[in-house]
Amino acid sequence: MFMGSKNPASDPRFHGRRRGRRLRQQREELLAARLPALELSLPADGGAVDPAAQFAGPVRDVWLEIGFGYGEHLIWQAQNHRDIGIIGAEPFLNGVARLVSYIAEGEVDNVRIVPDDVRPVLDRLPAASLGRVFILFPDPWPKLRHRKRRLVSAETLDQLARVMSDGAELRLATDDADYAAWMLRLGLAHREFEWTARRPDDWRQRPDDWPSTRYEEKNRSGGQGPVFLRFRRHLRD
Ligand SMILES: C[S@@+](CC[C@H](N)C(=O)[O-])C[C@H]1O[C@@H](n2cnc3c(N)ncnc32)[C@H](O)[C@@H]1O
Repeated sequence: MFMGSKNPASDPRFHGRRRGRRLRQQREELLAARLPALELSLPADGGAVDPAAQFAGPVRDVWLEIGFGYGEHLIWQAQNHRDIGIIGAEPFLNGVARLVSYIAEGEVDNVRIVPDDVRPVLDRLPAASLGRVFILFPDPWPKLRHRKRRLVSAETLDQLARVMSDGAELRLATDDADYAAWMLRLGLAHREFEWTARRPDDWRQRPDDWPSTRYEEKNRSGGQGPVFLRFRRHLRD
């Protein structure tokens, strides 16, 4: 069990699914064989974890994808940035199993996995230890009474501002109009972040180094197209 500080964001409740359809035996075996070595290792005493030290070789930077789903975007980033260590967090076991099989097929050695809610782990990362963070198509929780469940919140942005390095990029995507406005409002209101868009195409058009995800392909909201929001963490004083 993770042990965070007394910050309310570090004692959160996860509201999504942890399991879906029963895993095929082969995938179950692969997961059992490979996940232990791929898991981000957290000191048992509840202390801090140095993310850069978790990879087999030296890494130029460490990036984090929160809620990677089935891992298509994460594996693309890992394959195209072999000198970056990439941490993926996802409590949904079927998605973790899919990512583990992508890792086995793609022979990448620069990925580590948190098969759980990321928020308690954020509290254990050193300040300024991540150069990029992705939260792509988080569950929109459209009902008013469920808004508190949204992963993008003022508390999560505070946690991210602490662990992101100066000038680090936060990438958010959604196809839900209300969540897009919510993300923008919170991002613009946060004193440590700056929205980098200068013209509409900067948030309407997919950047080249931003492959689509399974959720995005399914266009769950059925409404507007996705928005791609990029925020830069300000330089510290
Ligand atoms: C709607 S899915 C999108 C998945 C993927 N990013 C995509 O675009 O296909 C949102 C994912 O976020 C994960 N998630 C929700 N809360 C999370 C948390 N606190 N930490 C890590 N992952 C979380 C869920 O388990 C779910 O798989």
